[in-house]
Amino acid sequence: MIFESHAHYDDEAFDSDRSELLSQCQNQGIEYIVNVSASLGSVKSTLALAEEYPFIYAAVGIHPDEVGELNEENFAWLKEQCRHPKTVAAGEIGLDYYWDKENHETQKYWFRRQMDLAKELELPIIVHSREACADTLEEIKKAHTPKLKGVIHCFSYAPETAREYLEMGYYIGVGGVVTFKNAKKLKEVVKMLPPERILLETDCPYLAPVPNRGKRNSSLNLPYVAEAVAELKGMETEEVIRITNENARKLYFQGREL
Ligand code: NI
Repeated sequence: MIFESHAHYDDEAFDSDRSELLSQCQNQGIEYIVNVSASLGSVKSTLALAEEYPFIYAAVGIHPDEVGELNEENFAWLKEQCRHPKTVAAGEIGLDYYWDKENHETQKYWFRRQMDLAKELELPIIVHSREACADTLEEIKKAHTPKLKGVIHCFSYAPETAREYLEMGYYIGVGGVVTFKNAKKLKEVVKMLPPERILLETDCPYLAPVPNRGKRNSSLNLPYVAEAVAELKGMETEEVIRITNENARKLYFQGREL
């Protein structure tokens, strides 16, 4: 059974067939889904999904592109949503210098605040980092405590950077990109990653793997990702699915009773 560690099923791309698709997921080997929020609005829609579907859990956090909407008042509200019984992570949070929608200091400020929140509430973090390799690593190092755990989602940096995150106890999120022919760097990363540190993710509706590249993505495509990882690691696909499921349970459920 597959653990989908990063999806956005509240996205409007799923408005026409969300409930059919989610029941299909459940019938086709997707055991759990963590739906990840990115804005204040998507925190609400993510929690609504988690309340409606027993197999969906929520990550609550504000994406670096959206931190401009944060202030002390709604940050207090955000904290309350982190205490929801189905919230299993703080995310997605981080730095995005590709879209560069907010200035770097603003992004860093709210990244720190959200990491502090995660530490206080003992939640793992889901980190989004795009073209912000050095700054993300620096912020995470500064915030690091042995208790703060997390995943670097849709990892796009070099093996040396992955190694630094592994040393701090982080997991690495691997999605559809690993099936792309030109994804040489990510394939190198996957080759060096210990299997017990990999999480499978889609980031759907984005980043569909080959052979569905360019189409709307969904968790139903995760077997293609597992297959690509298995090939790079010289493992059986089933083993990749089993180990990554265990990894995600460890990180998100932290041994608690469901
Ligand atoms: Ni995402």
